[in-house]
Amino acid sequence: MKKLACIGTGNMGGALARAACQSPACGPDEVILSNRTYEKAKRLAEELGCRAAESNLEAFREAEYILLGVKPQMMEGLLRELAPAVKESMEKGERKVLVTMAAGLKISFYREVLGCEEIPVIRLMPNTPAAVGCGMTLVCTSCPDEDTSELEGLLSASGAFDRIPEEQMDAAGTLTGCTPAFAYMFMEALADGGVMAGIPRKKAQEYAARAVMGAAALLLESGKHPGLLKDEVCSPGGSTIVGVYELEKKGFRSAAMEAVLGACEKNKKMGEGKK
Ligand SMILES: NC(=O)c1ccc[n+]([C@@H]2O[C@H](COP(=O)([O-])OP(=O)(O)OC[C@H]3O[C@@H](n4cnc5c(N)ncnc54)[C@H](OP(=O)(O)O)[C@@H]3O)[C@@H](O)[C@H]2O)c1
Repeated sequence: MKKLACIGTGNMGGALARAACQSPACGPDEVILSNRTYEKAKRLAEELGCRAAESNLEAFREAEYILLGVKPQMMEGLLRELAPAVKESMEKGERKVLVTMAAGLKISFYREVLGCEEIPVIRLMPNTPAAVGCGMTLVCTSCPDEDTSELEGLLSASGAFDRIPEEQMDAAGTLTGCTPAFAYMFMEALADGGVMAGIPRKKAQEYAARAVMGAAALLLESGKHPGLLKDEVCSPGGSTIVGVYELEKKGFRSAAMEAVLGACEKNKKMGEGKK
C-alpha cells in the first residue's frame, strides 16, 4: 500500500504530486498517479520517478490518502466512479482518507455523493506557488490530528499549511488563491515603470519580483505590521513617500481590497446550490 494517490494530475494535482515526491516523509516510491488522459499521468510519473496507474480505481485501491485533483464540476462523476471501491474499502476496514482541493465543495458533498458518512475527508485549498515550494495551503479536516499532520508531512515540500474551520475556507481560499494573480499584475506594472525609467525589461522584471519576494519574506519573518515596514522605507522628503502618495491618489489600497471582496463574492455565487 502506498501513502498517496493523486487522481487528476493537472496544474494543481501535478504540483502536489511533485511536492509529495520531494517531501522527506513521502518520496516517489509512496506516490501513485492517475489521470483521465493516461499519457499525462504517465509522463509526470516518469519525470518524478513514481508510478502511473491505468485507472482511477487502481490508484484508489493502492493508497491510503487519495488526493482528488479534478475540477469541481468533474468531482461528482469521479466520486460516483470511486463509490463502489470506497464502500468495499470501508467494509474491509482499510485506512482510506479522501483529500480534495476542489474550490467550493464542502465535506458534506463528498459524503453525500458517496453515500458514506464515515469516510474521512480533508479539504485542501492550495495555491500555485506550491509548485515551487512556496505555497500557502489551507486545510479543513474531518480527521484526527495524526492523520491531518501525516498528510501535511507527505506534502511538506509544497510550502506552508494552516488549519481553518470550513466556514472560512471560501474567503481564505479566495485570498490565497487569487493573490498570486494580483501580485503578478503588480510586479508586471512595477517592471513597466522600470522599463519607462530606462531599465531593460528582463532586469526590471527580476528586480520587481525579488523586491516583492524579499518584502514578503521580511514581513513574515519580522512579524512587524506592514505599515511599519513601509514607514521604515520612507525617509522624510525622500522618493519612496512620493511613490506611496501616487499609489494612494490612484486608490491602490482600496483597489486591492475591492479585488479580494469581488473575488470572494464571485466564489460565493459559484458555490451557491452546492452542499
Ligand atoms: N489552479 C489553481 O490555482 C487551484 C488552486 C486551488 C485549488 N484548485 C483546485 O484544483 C483542482 C484542479 O484544478 P487545476 O487547475 O489543476 O485543473 P486542471 O489543470 O484542469 O487539472 C485537472 C486534471 O483532472 C483530470 N481529470 C478530469 N476528470 C478526471 C477524471 N474523471 N479522472 C481522472 N482525472 C480527471 C484532467 O485530465 P485531462 O488531462 O484528461 O484533462 C486534468 O489533468 C480544482 O478542483 C481546483 O478547484 C486549483
